Amino acid sequence: MSTDHPPICDYEGSDYQERFWDEGERQYEHRVEQVALARLLPKSGNKLLEVGAGAGRNTPRYGGFDQVTLLDYSITQLQQAQARLGKDPRFLYVAADVYRLPFAPGTFDAATMIRTLHHMAAPVDALRQVRSTLAPDAIFILEFANKRNLKAILRWILRRQDWNPFAHHAIEFEKLNFNFHPVAIREWLNGTGFSLERQLTVSHFRLALLKRLVPTGLLVGLDSLFQWTGNWWQYSPSVFVRAEAVGGEPARSEGAFWRCPMCLSTEILAHESGLQCQSCGRLWPLVNGVYDFKVSSEN
Ligand SMILES: C[S@@+](CC[C@H](N)C(=O)[O-])C[C@H]1O[C@@H](n2cnc3c(N)ncnc32)[C@H](O)[C@@H]1O
Repeated sequence: MSTDHPPICDYEGSDYQERFWDEGERQYEHRVEQVALARLLPKSGNKLLEVGAGAGRNTPRYGGFDQVTLLDYSITQLQQAQARLGKDPRFLYVAADVYRLPFAPGTFDAATMIRTLHHMAAPVDALRQVRSTLAPDAIFILEFANKRNLKAILRWILRRQDWNPFAHHAIEFEKLNFNFHPVAIREWLNGTGFSLERQLTVSHFRLALLKRLVPTGLLVGLDSLFQWTGNWWQYSPSVFVRAEAVGGEPARSEGAFWRCPMCLSTEILAHESGLQCQSCGRLWPLVNGVYDFKVSSEN
């Protein structure tokens, strides 16, 4: 991989799903995200791309789509997703880098990117890549970690945090973990061919003490009400955005689904063992149901 490629937060071999979700007391976060997704995502559609799908935690929420492509850089995350979701011909598993997506322009009529942009050192490049895979008028649901949240504001006022939550630049609070400002996100979406339609603020009550003292159902109900304020102000730690793909349409490749992430040709031939690019000759293997487009130094 070239040295100017943005660094990748590598989840290969990670127990993220088990540690963070299954055993991490995050039922509240899981459920309020479900509410937000149900409110923003079209009820049905043809092809949906799930960017940074991880272990498929959100995938069952896309049941109205004919085909769901789970895209993640980590093969082991996708294997966990396969184990969780079982055999279902509607799911396609693709290991690839969001900065080099292996799909023909204009392929999908919807995409989601939940809890993934916060790992992007080059978020605009990632958004541009996602946009290129979308058909005109496609819907994109983006979740981002909001640096201008109430806790950060309070910590800044009390001088327990040196960075300014109101400044528009991203803050890397841990290696390859970024929080973004809502205004920056809006500008980036506008600049990459998206029109922002609606915002929901999510996870207002993400405080360990509150979660311990108040029944989860009540917190979820309250959060569901507060989510609607997201179009007016955004001070929650998580924000969900619904945007539509507009303008400057990428050239649609009739009938093509794949694109070689190295030479960008859409002339791809399917073999039993994988996909062969007819232009540069590279073979992208299919191993145990996962298409592997990860680029190594040999590629
Ligand atoms: C915090 S997890 C979120 C998983 C899932 N969306 C969820 O909400 O449960 C972030 C995921 O993004 C993936 N990821 C990080 N950088 C990536 C990249 N450059 N290309 C593709 N996936 C990436 C990681 O492998 C990981 O599975």
